[in-house]
Amino acid sequence: MKILANDGLSEDAVQYLKDNGCEVSTTNIPQDQLINYINEQKITVLSVRSATKVRKDIIDACPSLQIIGRGGVGMDNIDVEYARSKGIQVINTPAASSHSVGELVFAHLFGLARFLYDANREMPQNGAGDFKALKKKYAKGFELKGSTIGIIGFGRIGQATAKIALGLGMKVIVADHTPGEYELELDIQGAGEVKVKITSTNKEEVLKNADVITLHVPAQEDGTPVLGANEFKLMKDGVVVINAARGGVIDEDALIDALNSGKVASAGLDVFVNEPTPREDILSHEKISLSPHIGAATNAAQQRIGFELADQILSFYKVSAN
Ligand code: 3PG
Repeated sequence: MKILANDGLSEDAVQYLKDNGCEVSTTNIPQDQLINYINEQKITVLSVRSATKVRKDIIDACPSLQIIGRGGVGMDNIDVEYARSKGIQVINTPAASSHSVGELVFAHLFGLARFLYDANREMPQNGAGDFKALKKKYAKGFELKGSTIGIIGFGRIGQATAKIALGLGMKVIVADHTPGEYELELDIQGAGEVKVKITSTNKEEVLKNADVITLHVPAQEDGTPVLGANEFKLMKDGVVVINAARGGVIDEDALIDALNSGKVASAGLDVFVNEPTPREDILSHEKISLSPHIGAATNAAQQRIGFELADQILSFYKVSAN
């Protein structure tokens, strides 16, 4: 099999595939040259992350494709059902990056709680001249311990996020489209496994009661944001909002209004509408902590993703891996 990992794949996973008889290229082929490349090289497996789009045009024009692999969770960049209807196997790695995304939520959250995102912008310019003024500007931080985190979307990533929150002593409230009771297993060093039961509530209750709201839902098929102007109205004054899920699940206009009015104290965004070119007023907003869609971008997560994907590919071709 000839594999094109167009958005990259961990080096060890590439080696593992090669050791098991695959030809693997990790050269990034620009979107508009992909069809030609796949056909010329007779690529059988196209592996992508979120950058490369695998739409009907590629599926229709590339008869050699047998597998489309998504190294990651969200498959909104792939026409999954269409590909399957054409007999192409579409696979992803839904569990491999949950903890990595959960940790990024807290990277933003700790930074927001103590204004680090802004202090890091101000200190290089004004740290020496205005030290006392900056100390005062960043004096009113909040502690995560004792705060209530509202998690909307309680699949693997939502649950990984909840485990970290519980470890920090936060109160956790959750809403999911399938309501129910969840039992989380926390691996606490020195204490072994601790089980915590969480019963989901509805989205409105989460919006009304949380000090911090984080979203862990997929891209919405009809494009309707999960948080828009009506949802912001329900939130506590001074709430903090995090989105490491998908651009578009928050209405960015409504978020900017809520930040400007003070309804939302600050926001952490890892994902944006119109990636890879987010809008300027989001990028330059002084109350937003920013990262460029790096939720799954830890070495450990990419290693797990690479091997999970590789094993699925080998098993499709009935190769017993060595
Ligand atoms: C995912 O859906 O797995 C994450 O958003 C990560 O996307 P990435 O693989 O493009 O970093």
